[in-house]
Amino acid sequence: MNRKMRMPVIAGNWKMNNGPAAAEKLVGEIKPFAETTGCEVVLCVPYVSLQAALAAAAGTGIKIGAQNCHWAPSGAFTGEVSAEMLKELGVPYVIVGHSERRQYFGETDGTVHDRTRAALDAGLKVILCVGELKAQRLSGITAEVVRLQTKLALEGVSAEEVEQRVVIAYEPVWAIGTGLTATPEQANEVNALIRALIAELYSAQTAERTVIQYGGSMNDANAGELLAQPDIDGGLIGGASLSAEKFAAIIKAASA
Ligand code: 13P
Repeated sequence: MNRKMRMPVIAGNWKMNNGPAAAEKLVGEIKPFAETTGCEVVLCVPYVSLQAALAAAAGTGIKIGAQNCHWAPSGAFTGEVSAEMLKELGVPYVIVGHSERRQYFGETDGTVHDRTRAALDAGLKVILCVGELKAQRLSGITAEVVRLQTKLALEGVSAEEVEQRVVIAYEPVWAIGTGLTATPEQANEVNALIRALIAELYSAQTAERTVIQYGGSMNDANAGELLAQPDIDGGLIGGASLSAEKFAAIIKAASA
């Protein structure tokens, strides 16, 4: 990370874990460790746990996020939740384009773009996920895949929005939930190419100000060396974010 230019963001993605009661408990356990000015702490929780998490995090530095949002403000979209509804609830962050949504729920680069745009229009901050499949890495097309995903998602997004309200999370799909972490060098290489793309699309200044996280089996043991890389500005953490102790250690590593 480059602290002079960017504040690291440590975000937990709880995925489909922790209903309201468990959310209240875990936010409470994380609270004492989140009182740091060294990084921004975000917890992305299931929709049904948003209110409990917001209440439990009130008065602390912890920001609460959702894990997806629809691209329309309202309408006949059974089972969906709009960015405007999240805004109304007081939710500041939303994850868009997570690989599990791309893999299991038909998310495409087009819908990722539309959801990103809707979230920004509603005034939310977006954690935009990109990353290659194992087969794509083995075929040597990681750079092309990640560049394309990022470029399509950010079409029509302004430099100011990217700098202030978009966090890009590089999450190699083969590293998610597998215990296989990208090496710090592998992760930094892709984060650096995303930053170079931002410079190409916007400017060197915007690239320097854009927060780019790494996600994929980040945990208390490996966070330090990943976060020491110059282009890794935080993490999007799945499994390890379900343990207050492990998540606290990652917050500490980012605040060091
Ligand atoms: P894991 O940390 O469990 O590998 O999950 C990463 C992830 O998908 C975060 O969004």
